[in-house]
Amino acid sequence: MCGIVGAIAQRNITPILLEGLRRLEYRGYDSAGVAVMPSDHHILRVRATGKVAELESALTDNPANGHLGIAHTRWATHGKPAEHNAHPHVSDRLAIVHNGIIENHSALRSRLVEQGFVFSSETDTEVIAHLVAWHYRLTGDLLAAFRAALNELHGAYALALVHEDEPDTLYCARMGSPLVIGEGSGENYLASDPLALLQVTDRFRYLEEGDHARLTLDGCEIWDARGEAVQRPALRYEHAALSLDKGEYRHYMLKEIFEQPGAINDTLAGTLGTDHVLTAILGPDAEARLGNIEHIHIVACGTSYHAGLVARYWIEGQVGIPCQVEVASEYRYRTVAVPANTLLITISQSGETADTLAALRFAAKGGYLATLAICNVAGSSLVREADWRLLTHAGPEIGVASTKAFTTQLVALLWLTTALLQSRSGNQAQVAANVAALRQLPELISRALELEPQITRLAERFANKHHTLFLGRGPHYPIAMEGALKLKEISYIHAEAYAAGELKHGPLALVDENMPVVSVAPSDSLLEKLRSNLEEVRARGGELITFACESIDQEGASPQDTLSLPEVADVISPVLYTIPLQMLSYHVALVKGTDVDKPRNLAKSVTVE
Ligand code: G6P
Repeated sequence: MCGIVGAIAQRNITPILLEGLRRLEYRGYDSAGVAVMPSDHHILRVRATGKVAELESALTDNPANGHLGIAHTRWATHGKPAEHNAHPHVSDRLAIVHNGIIENHSALRSRLVEQGFVFSSETDTEVIAHLVAWHYRLTGDLLAAFRAALNELHGAYALALVHEDEPDTLYCARMGSPLVIGEGSGENYLASDPLALLQVTDRFRYLEEGDHARLTLDGCEIWDARGEAVQRPALRYEHAALSLDKGEYRHYMLKEIFEQPGAINDTLAGTLGTDHVLTAILGPDAEARLGNIEHIHIVACGTSYHAGLVARYWIEGQVGIPCQVEVASEYRYRTVAVPANTLLITISQSGETADTLAALRFAAKGGYLATLAICNVAGSSLVREADWRLLTHAGPEIGVASTKAFTTQLVALLWLTTALLQSRSGNQAQVAANVAALRQLPELISRALELEPQITRLAERFANKHHTLFLGRGPHYPIAMEGALKLKEISYIHAEAYAAGELKHGPLALVDENMPVVSVAPSDSLLEKLRSNLEEVRARGGELITFACESIDQEGASPQDTLSLPEVADVISPVLYTIPLQMLSYHVALVKGTDVDKPRNLAKSVTVE
């Protein structure tokens, strides 16, 4: 959600901070700010509402240069988006930036007001600034004051702090929100995501829960929650070589849609044998225990949840293992019955989504055979805390609306279904068929991407629409849900998905000439049933748009209302039919003139509840 960057160097660090903020802006973007230590050691703070570009213009009017500084891009939780709520927040001679939520902020605020501190924002972050200042007034020792303040905080935080009394030091801490330390040569950095610092380094130390650290020009000292000095290994960031530019594309989202054949290839690399899957990649312990799994619980949020819903059809349909799929925000707060030998799977692009991480931590307390994280970020909290891991290799996804992360999650889940099947004696022909189908996917997706000109024309028809229905059956029902989510996220058109069989139980009442109905209609065993549902829409004057298999005769449908996709094996068809739906939402958003990569009110990584 929010983003943090910090740097200490012998040169002016403001350009490093600004470039870091630009790279994090996709995560949250209602205001931004910097606090920089110039040579006179009086902190300069500049803040602005809106995007990082607004902060840059504010800095042109009020330059802030120095060798040490912290910066922040905000996604409002406490207090509306406004300059006085933007970070950094200051108290006495210190400045602080914060990601996360402090749950006991009201009680702390009341106490600090009684102590005479004056608040100038509605944020929970300003409470931390005053709390550290209060402890520092008592002790005169900044590290001790920082630790004492951390001990009083309940909730989630990643923090960075600078103080005029220690003009050559950066402090930071992590609990529940990610934070990394970047190693440069004779300079050091920190950030909430390595992406922010790839312009200056590709070596990172990932702080663990409860860690706090002190950075100087020469290096960093790290302590764990008990105050014991600890070492965290410096790891090379594997995607550092990837371009984070939009290249020839108008938006990151379009670039990421077109990157899908390559992302799927990368995700499958090293995972497939000739007619089997290489289960050792899950870890030797996992490989030996796949055959013991009797139940599966899948927990995720947003688009990742939709991937889980598709997987249920595969796992129950092919392997016969009962599989339950749930959104993490519900799962974490209810009493869950866990049958013996249940595998918990969490799915997340970022690996830092607060609810998904909480679900994993809840599950780690016991009752499960094992936990598996399917994730796109190798160093993320989710991956580090799960027993087993299955990495998608989509590369960094910058567009807030998830595209290549979703299809690579589907690929990982079909791979896992195949691994489960393989671990049971029996249907090895299906194992080989799945492997062959997975191998075909990149090429098939490239062909689906060729539909773009037709989809561009189709999108014009949504210019004045306010609502859309998406229909699908079987594993294409969650694909319809994902199509509806994409459309609402970036074009702000209200969209709902229904299992087509539910049409007459309510949504048919909404159908008229103002309601486009998008149906996902591959050639599978449910096609005839779906066609009857579509007839019901046509009979009521609904504007029907169908994505269908090229080899099937579309009785009664006009060619401009039907877009044809290649004929494929049933098992991979949900992945293929995702592509035109992504493309449709992208082009409708262009028609509507919205901010495609940074839709209003949304954030890429939801690291707070
Ligand atoms: C946010 C993003 C979605 C994403 C969801 C879950 O809502 O905007 O694109 O699907 O979080 O994120 P995760 O990183 O856990 O997959």
